[in-house]
Amino acid sequence: MIKAVGAMADLAASAADNGDHQAESRESESRMVRVRVLRQDIAGGESYWERFEVPYEPNMNVISVLQKIAAQARSQDGRHVAPVTWDCCCLEEVCGSCTMLINGRTRMACSALVDKLVVEDGEEIELRPMSKFPVVRDLVVDRRRVFRALEKIEAWVPVEGSYDLGPGPRISPEEQEDAYPLSTCMSCGCCLEACPQYTKIEVVRRDDESEADFDARRKAAHDSGFIGAHAISQTVLFNAHPTGRMIADERMEALTSKGGIQVCGNAQNCVAVCPKHIPLTRSIARAGRAATVWAIKKLFDR
Ligand code: SF4
Ligand code: SF4
Ligand code: FES
Repeated sequence: MIKAVGAMADLAASAADNGDHQAESRESESRMVRVRVLRQDIAGGESYWERFEVPYEPNMNVISVLQKIAAQARSQDGRHVAPVTWDCCCLEEVCGSCTMLINGRTRMACSALVDKLVVEDGEEIELRPMSKFPVVRDLVVDRRRVFRALEKIEAWVPVEGSYDLGPGPRISPEEQEDAYPLSTCMSCGCCLEACPQYTKIEVVRRDDESEADFDARRKAAHDSGFIGAHAISQTVLFNAHPTGRMIADERMEALTSKGGIQVCGNAQNCVAVCPKHIPLTRSIARAGRAATVWAIKKLFDR
């Protein structure tokens, strides 16, 4: 008898659970995600806000919201509009291409979960392109300057030829442990967006200018601006590598040229926003010390 009462209570509890579950899924089905996007149709054009609404699904991230917006191509008030444009690739916080301002914070759209955003910031999600780079369209920005900085400091290990060079130099586990976090940089630009010393450089092509001349002018403009925390950290990484340090002097020359490490004001905004938690302030301190030693050495080498 006691067993039968227990079983009935279990049945009642499970029916209540099912009821809750069904009510929850009905609620999810009818729930909408509201999004406000700062749009721009062409490079250099006027920006404007547009609102969208898409059906909620559990575990959505900002990229899946943007995919739904693209599929329906309708604004919240029912107008047929051009789909919002954005960049993404890996969808797992590795490629660094989906950086945008989400509710005012620079971060990766692929790892920004709707459920968390709604709890932290309220029902409507605000999406804006990064402000330190020229807008190409909507949420897509021109990040060439990020890569130009890496080119400037020669962020690679120089290896000649495609033939077998034999085993590389041995790197101790301690050195590997030190280098690994720095090697996870994905050139996402979050550190640059947050940096007060990193200001926007937008170079517009002149009517009479060739592609090559425009490219050279843009590179020169990028080289004159602050190089950024990512490039400083990559200098530390490649100058610590036994083969990479063969061109350490060239890197230090680039790192201390116009727009180099001396521009860093040590505000430490960069380290606070890096999605990979790279110890950027440590890299900046190490690069600063190396730059001082290098400058003294250069003085005595004259
Ligand atoms: S520490 Fe330097 S690189 Fe980092 S945010 Fe501050 S000024 Fe920018
Ligand atoms: S250092 Fe961090 S924030 Fe900066 S580009 Fe690399 S991964 Fe992105
Ligand atoms: S899509 Fe690659 S980091 Fe977000």
